[in-house]
Amino acid sequence: MSEQANDITLDDPSPASVPSRQRPAAEPAAGAMLPNPDACVAERTARLDSKQLRADFVRQDAFLHLEDFLAPEVTAQLVASARALVPQINRNYLPGHKQGGSVSRHTIDELAPFIAELYRSKALIGWLEQMCGEKLLVSPDSDPHAYALYYYTRQGDHIGWHYDTSYYDGRRYTLLLGVIEESSCRLDYELHTRNAQVPDEPGSVQTTPGGLVFFDGDKLRHRITPAGANEMRVSLTFEYVTDPGMRPWLRFISNMKDAVAYFGFRQVFKRLVPGQKPRS
Ligand SMILES: [Fe+2]
Repeated sequence: MSEQANDITLDDPSPASVPSRQRPAAEPAAGAMLPNPDACVAERTARLDSKQLRADFVRQDAFLHLEDFLAPEVTAQLVASARALVPQINRNYLPGHKQGGSVSRHTIDELAPFIAELYRSKALIGWLEQMCGEKLLVSPDSDPHAYALYYYTRQGDHIGWHYDTSYYDGRRYTLLLGVIEESSCRLDYELHTRNAQVPDEPGSVQTTPGGLVFFDGDKLRHRITPAGANEMRVSLTFEYVTDPGMRPWLRFISNMKDAVAYFGFRQVFKRLVPGQKPRS
């Protein structure tokens, strides 16, 4: 049990109740040195056996797990941002399916732009393209999942079995980066569920700080098991697509799901009203 975990179990104020002047600085004060995320990723990926990892990704039906991926200084910055953004958490509860908190890309853009910079790292995207064998694009500005933090901070926080379904015209890849792991939560998964020729292959990992899970959202069946009392788990996910087009009715379904299950109506819909100035 950590002091942080105890702090988090107090009622978290919603984003709307936190005046701007009280918002935490999720990054060091001006003048403090931040790591260069692109250079850090380039240095780390140069050390990896990418050919072997690509083979692993294919063999596991578009899934890869690495326990140690990010440079320690990058992980440290993500941890600092995740803790500083706790007052911005939007809590959600869908009986029987999920319970937890999240901070969308819109809030991250305003308060933790280092994360947005890491998301757009050319070195990162280039290496992920090597793994999946496809050209990857960043998600549209309106997508709150493009980069988001997910918090498991109260007993029972979890998400049930699901796919990261693509509502886009192309495929949707998920990159999950471990940020804080002070919990008993597991990422359980099943490989090959969409391939009738290959038996399902179950697996389970802890998403340790700086570790990576990369997968095709429509292929990997997965869940996060429930957090215990006084535990804390935070993950950061990046979403990349192969075609960012989306049909209008799928856009509507996607927006409703995001509003109800993740980020709240304010975050999802205020940004879609023409002429309305977005707020976090
Ligand atoms: Fe998921």
